[in-house]
Amino acid sequence: MTEQVFSVLNVLDEPVLLLNSDRTIVHANHAAQKLLTSNSLAGLEGQSFVRVLRHPEALRCVDAVLAGEKRSQTDVHLDIPHRMTMRLSAVALETEAPAVAVTLKDETPLLQAAQMRSDFVANVSHELRSPLTTLSGIIETLQGNAKDDPKAQQRFLKIMESEAGRMDRLIGDLISLSRVEEEERVRPTETVDLVRIVQAVIDNLKDRTESADRVFDFQPEAKECLVVGDPDQLTQVFQNLLENAVKYSKLGGKIVLKIESKKSAPRLNSAVWAASIRDEGEGIAAEHLPRLTERFYRIDSGRSRAMGGTGLGLAIVKHILSRHRGRLHIASAPGEGVTMTALIPAAV
Ligand SMILES: Nc1ncnc2c1ncn2[C@@H]1O[C@H](COP(=O)(O)OP(=O)(O)OP(=O)(O)O)[C@@H](O)[C@H]1O
Ligand SMILES: [Mg+2]
Repeated sequence: MTEQVFSVLNVLDEPVLLLNSDRTIVHANHAAQKLLTSNSLAGLEGQSFVRVLRHPEALRCVDAVLAGEKRSQTDVHLDIPHRMTMRLSAVALETEAPAVAVTLKDETPLLQAAQMRSDFVANVSHELRSPLTTLSGIIETLQGNAKDDPKAQQRFLKIMESEAGRMDRLIGDLISLSRVEEEERVRPTETVDLVRIVQAVIDNLKDRTESADRVFDFQPEAKECLVVGDPDQLTQVFQNLLENAVKYSKLGGKIVLKIESKKSAPRLNSAVWAASIRDEGEGIAAEHLPRLTERFYRIDSGRSRAMGGTGLGLAIVKHILSRHRGRLHIASAPGEGVTMTALIPAAV
């Protein structure tokens, strides 16, 4: 086979190996060299395929083609550099030498996406089923034992109200999440003032009973902190961050809100406004930090659920900030409270 063919194979993103009928590798394109050799100096040419890909199914495919089949496929799992699932195809060539072409296609992202979808459906079903089970149980009791007990009826109606509210919030959050995901690539166009948004969120929260005794200390660095953004979505960001600070920190503890300007921030290449919310709660252990923005991830799901949480709040926050070309930074240590910072590029 000519050098021209080899150079064409080298521009492909997918790894390709050409083998002789004794399974020695005649040519490995750049992608294959990159994938299968930890040391790029040691070439694959001349080595036996069996030694390079120690995988019985892969060998079976190559042997099937050498025995006369036109094409044979299997999935192989590789652990280099991380765990990957590759679709391996061995295809018969019309030449004597090389006799077989082996291609590898990384299917990991597809499989991960499928897994995420099914996890998501399982989570949603589970979250909807528990309030539904409570509601059905209560309806049964109201029709039976509690039929003539007005006191019990009042108590059950209260529980029904709160369970129905929980389902309503979950559905609201799901709709919000899918809308935010849909719009993620569309950049907002309005110029909005973060100071006004954060102040409105504080005022709104103060009116609610659960935060009546909380002290909110708001220190914006400037009178106006302008960003290009969607006011409703940014309100949603600060509403969830502030609600979390109230829900998960000790009663009566102070909550400090700041908006500071930063010349730059890691992974963001413009000047940003850093809007932070610090509480004096128990804090979050390091192992939970990277997972907090996953859908339905709750540290103590019993506690969060009891407070009406669905575990979607921070997932929504992350998507909204990403639409605004910003990001969320979470800092905490157990016993030291939590600081959640929304970094948003400043309007120029
Ligand atoms: N300030 C905080 N202090 C301690 N833990 C927090 C704090 N903020 C968030 N968490 C933890 O992160 C989890 C995820 O937060 P998130 O806002 O996504 O969900 P939620 O508040 O449980 O529900 P939702 O926001 O959908 O009503 C919470 O369940 C809680 O365990
Ligand atoms: Mg929340």
